[in-house]
Amino acid sequence: MKRVGIIGLGEYLPKKVLTNADLEKMVDTSDEWITTRTGIKERRIAAKNEATSDLAIKAAKEALLDAKLAAIDLELIIVATITPDMFTPSVACYVQHGIGAKNAAAFDVSAACAGFVYALSVASQFISRGTYKNILVIGAEKLSAFTDWEDRNTCVLFGDGAAAAVLSEVEAGGILSTYLGSDGTRADLLNIPGGGSRHPATTQTLEDRLHYLKMEGNEVFKLAVTTMAEAAYMAIKKAGLEPKDIDLVIPHQANVRIIMAMAKKLNFPQEKIYLNIERYGNMSSASTITALCEAVKEGRVKKGDTVLLDAFGAGLVWGAVVIEW
Ligand code: ACO
Repeated sequence: MKRVGIIGLGEYLPKKVLTNADLEKMVDTSDEWITTRTGIKERRIAAKNEATSDLAIKAAKEALLDAKLAAIDLELIIVATITPDMFTPSVACYVQHGIGAKNAAAFDVSAACAGFVYALSVASQFISRGTYKNILVIGAEKLSAFTDWEDRNTCVLFGDGAAAAVLSEVEAGGILSTYLGSDGTRADLLNIPGGGSRHPATTQTLEDRLHYLKMEGNEVFKLAVTTMAEAAYMAIKKAGLEPKDIDLVIPHQANVRIIMAMAKKLNFPQEKIYLNIERYGNMSSASTITALCEAVKEGRVKKGDTVLLDAFGAGLVWGAVVIEW
């Protein structure tokens, strides 16, 4: 088995910033409520003419530059998203064309907020077995297109963005373990009910606002804390490590209270937790990879450090990955 590591990172966040003060003018909410309940201060919103693949392509180009690879060197592109440009074709195919990756296969992974962790785990199998040499893995979302801007329970939470990682064989370190899980019995807690084969688009589904993301936040909150702690623990154990051996925890950025409660369960000190939720909100599949990208840019991850990615989302699904940098 070959060692698999991340050799390049890139991100793209849309220019438009939507602050809590802006949201106060749209729904019955307050900066104080959003900040204390979630930790979010602002989020990015893609332009009308920007689709998920447009965000993904920009992040992909930056990651390829960082990896010092050309698009033709890629053999596979995986995009994690729950907000594709359209049901078919995949966002990955638009990226393949957009960056000119003529030699790459391409597909999407749908695992909500755990999407990037799922995609990374899948990609690492192809490289560790020697099937492919270079894979581009992207987390990209335009959640603003599926957010009900009249529902204060959800519209304050989400944002748009994309980030990408190039995976290759490495000589030392790399991915030490991956752990994935799911529980479809709780699919009702968080979904976009309309527009699929269960409720195909009709004027009625539009009137009922079924094409927007629905969430029972409180129930999801409780499950997220215990499940993220369990997933983190399982991945750390699989890597032959203890929680104290982790240098930086990169959690899914859904709610700062979820993150801190999870950290408490595993005795992670606050300084080992990376947060950027304040600036971007919850970007689902794009959250963990954007956080990793920024942590590396800010010098929070040094060579030899052990990093934990830990995520939980709609499905329900969860996953954690331990990487030696
Ligand atoms: N502004 C003001 N008040 C609000 C707002 C708002 N934006 N939203 C809800 N409230 C009110 C509610 O109506 C409720 O009022 P009531 O007591 O009069 O009924 C009160 O605030 C408390 O509501 P709760 O839902 O209990 O608030 P909670 O503390 O649980 O916070 C939140 C809500 C932020 C959604 C939280 O539950 C959460 O973060 N959940 C998890 C989200 C998550 O992790 N999702 C998974 C990933 S997403 C994905 O996979 C796509």
